[in-house]
Amino acid sequence: MVRLGRFVRFSINPFLDEDGPGCNSYASKPAGEGLAVYLELAAELVGPVQADTGLVVNVSDIDRVVRRFAVPVVAERIREHLRRGEHIPLGTVSQILWSAYERLADEFDAVRVDRLTLKLNPFRKLAMDTQDPDTMYFSEKFEFAATHKLWNDAFSDEQNFEVFGKCANAAGHGHNYIVEVTVATPAGGPALKIGRFEQIVDSRLMQLVDHKNLNLDVPDFQNRIATVENLAIFAWERLSGRFDPGRLHAVTVWESDRTYCSYYGPSEPNHG
Ligand code: NI
Repeated sequence: MVRLGRFVRFSINPFLDEDGPGCNSYASKPAGEGLAVYLELAAELVGPVQADTGLVVNVSDIDRVVRRFAVPVVAERIREHLRRGEHIPLGTVSQILWSAYERLADEFDAVRVDRLTLKLNPFRKLAMDTQDPDTMYFSEKFEFAATHKLWNDAFSDEQNFEVFGKCANAAGHGHNYIVEVTVATPAGGPALKIGRFEQIVDSRLMQLVDHKNLNLDVPDFQNRIATVENLAIFAWERLSGRFDPGRLHAVTVWESDRTYCSYYGPSEPNHG
């Protein structure tokens, strides 16, 4: 079994009678005229790779099915709310996502729609596992800049340079880190407030690490090597148990666009 994901990009014009069709699905289809609500909807499908094609499902079929069955549900519901001048909280977004899943669920042969994700903007998304309709997963990315040096005082200088290479440079070196924090909340319960969520991440984590020398300024890293692995665990420790409603589900730290580490807490080392 493999997990295949495909994002479908579309726009909604709540106040036009109809959305133009558009013919650039890479940018957005429907295209959206003027200022529109732009969203990305991802379906993750779990199934076997077909021996004759090497495919789980042809992505053009995913596009066709998602655009035919799921996108209209999302577009219509959002259009209704906005035309009535109503705010759309995250709990309502998760209901809309579930309605879209119900339209999609039986449209693929021999594969299961395992997860639907709605990207609200490039840095923020809401996801639902179709095996667990009672939980929604809200994720948001943050960035910080920091200096670190990878060094173990118990090693000799030679050992440190052998293990850590140029990362052991005495004066340190810097990264622009990205942290994605994912919180699981009851889909039907009180909605997570994004502003409050951001305040918690900011005060509990970002204020400690942003524009800091991790080795010198963060007490936790005086006895713990500031690798991306340990940063993910540190972020988890700083944020776990702090969200209400909800619980911390995952932290992913990118040290560069090639190196990242995810942590799901001490009890779920192999969670994917
Ligand atoms: Ni580094």
